[in-house]
Amino acid sequence: MLQLLTQLEAAAAYVKQQWAVTPRVGIILGSGLGGLAEEIDVQATVDYANLPHFPRTSALGHRGRLVCGSLEGVPLMAFQGRFHLYEGHSPQQSTLPVRLLRALGAETLLVTNAAGGVNPAFAVGDIMLIDDQINLLFANPLVGVNDDNLGPQFPDMSAPYDAELGEVAASIARRNDFVLHRGVYMAMLGPTYETRAEYRMVRRLGGDAVGMSTVPEVIAARHGDMRVLGLSTITNVGSPDAPSETSGHDVIAAAETASEKLTKIVRGVVAAL
Ligand code: HPA
Repeated sequence: MLQLLTQLEAAAAYVKQQWAVTPRVGIILGSGLGGLAEEIDVQATVDYANLPHFPRTSALGHRGRLVCGSLEGVPLMAFQGRFHLYEGHSPQQSTLPVRLLRALGAETLLVTNAAGGVNPAFAVGDIMLIDDQINLLFANPLVGVNDDNLGPQFPDMSAPYDAELGEVAASIARRNDFVLHRGVYMAMLGPTYETRAEYRMVRRLGGDAVGMSTVPEVIAARHGDMRVLGLSTITNVGSPDAPSETSGHDVIAAAETASEKLTKIVRGVVAAL
């Protein structure tokens, strides 16, 4: 991870040239959720292609652009597109956005994703506040020689998601009269969606929703002692006994329908920081 620090310094210097503000918050926008960036009072945008050491993103519904500006008067950066392990990125590369945020001074990370619901109470278009996570990627971004400048070798993961931010999100949902589920996000490598047997396994192992991202980013954020809020949009339901087909295009379309609720939560949480 020592090389990572050098890469980060170059990427951070580039961003600072375009936007000389210290962000307080970083938002990672998942599949079909990039529209949330339209809420931002934009002061600068940076294509990942121009960011030193940043890989290209090849995932459907991920634009590959960093938007810098403010929301509710709070300076922040939003990543329109993330790096998944299934694209062939290493776990370390997949967490570069989080490391960059930390290097620039952000203390809070808001992560969003599209996920398959395996909790039978969940319906397409619902939002789940991520309460906890299970790493079934069989990979971890902290593998390697630890750089103590980034965080401790053995970070605590007893409560990766910030309870106070979660309460703020819950109160926004109550005030706006929509359901906000709470549950466990399980990360699988992908890029295939799950088989019926795998959806059943996810449920039995304690997952409420399953996706292909987020877990490495949250590990890196906790390594850097950032506060984390995680939100999953349920874009399909993985019900083993009533199987239905899932496609990437369906997932993106479903994510877009939930963006109004997601936007309300993100705006409200940022305003409360
Ligand atoms: N499985 C994994 N990732 C996903 C799903 C799913 O069912 N839906 C959206 N992302």
